[in-house]
Amino acid sequence: MVGRMVGRRVGIIGAGAVGATAAYSLAFTGTCHEILLYDIVPEVAIGKAIDISQSTNYSPRGTVVRGVVKPEEVKDCDVVVITAGVPRKKDMTRMQLLDINAKIVKEVAQNIKKYSPNAIVLVVSNPLDVMTYVAFRVLGWERNRVIGMGGALDRARMAYQIYQKIGFGMSQVRPMVIGNHGEDMIPYPEITSIAGVPLPQLLSEEDMEDIIQKTKQGGAEIVKYLKTSAFYAPGRAVSVMVEAILSDEEKVIPSCVYLDGEYGHKDVTIGVPCVIGAKGVNKIIEIELEPKIKEKFDKAVQSVKSAIVMLEDSGFFESL
Ligand code: APR
Repeated sequence: MVGRMVGRRVGIIGAGAVGATAAYSLAFTGTCHEILLYDIVPEVAIGKAIDISQSTNYSPRGTVVRGVVKPEEVKDCDVVVITAGVPRKKDMTRMQLLDINAKIVKEVAQNIKKYSPNAIVLVVSNPLDVMTYVAFRVLGWERNRVIGMGGALDRARMAYQIYQKIGFGMSQVRPMVIGNHGEDMIPYPEITSIAGVPLPQLLSEEDMEDIIQKTKQGGAEIVKYLKTSAFYAPGRAVSVMVEAILSDEEKVIPSCVYLDGEYGHKDVTIGVPCVIGAKGVNKIIEIELEPKIKEKFDKAVQSVKSAIVMLEDSGFFESL
């Protein structure tokens, strides 16, 4: 592990597939001293915490994993990860899902504000960009302390697709994906390299377009086979971000963050390249976007904004 260890305790709210996998990955790598798992269904948090605990005798730090049953027990955390939410059911509209998960994230964020006032918050619940906005508004903290995990996963999915095409350099691909974590995601092969070798010099435009489409379908492809959504790659992506924060690694990771003028936008949360470290988002990197990418980015911003407006119009933020 590189850098300075700045924190010890990680809270995970929502001990479902992604929350538990993130906990396992953190324990496995010895990233922190203690993990607190909380879920609205107490048995889930407790059962999974026991199982993960029984794996940590073999982990580098013997990480302590505890399942807790009251929100107030998730206290004084250095980082809190929010994976709580419900999946979209067949007969549910996007707005209904938005409404349900926004209420969950609101309640969770209110508790974090009370019990872990110095934490950095990592949002994972979907729709990711809007949920990050909800957490940001409810917490009312500096924007660097509220981050959405989307790009870390999307770029890993893009790396997989690139490897499928070229067949080498799997660990050396660090693609860039910006925009929202959803239909308007923008995989950006033109600025991706494999250990410095520019991707456009290895692949045709057609191949790159194929990579873009497959990356965007990355989550759906897994649902098709498993009939449930992914959790290994999302869980690992969460733990990579937590590691970067706790060890102040200052890693460049595309992340969802509140924009205040960057990229020409304000009052919206969306994925852009960020330096992730002890402050959370230590820095937002503004890269120059080619016109066709800027157009896509603006479209992604509008789609996040329209969901925020729907919440706004329903009076969601009034009681804050
Ligand atoms: N407080 C705490 N936990 C809650 C709450 C709440 N208010 N509401 C729901 N939960 C819990 C559920 O009991 C469940 O165990 O959140 C967990 C969600 O887990 P899964 O349904 O397994 O979903 P998962 O695949 O882990 O995804 C979690 O991350 O990637 C996103 O779209 C995904 O929004 C979803 C989230």
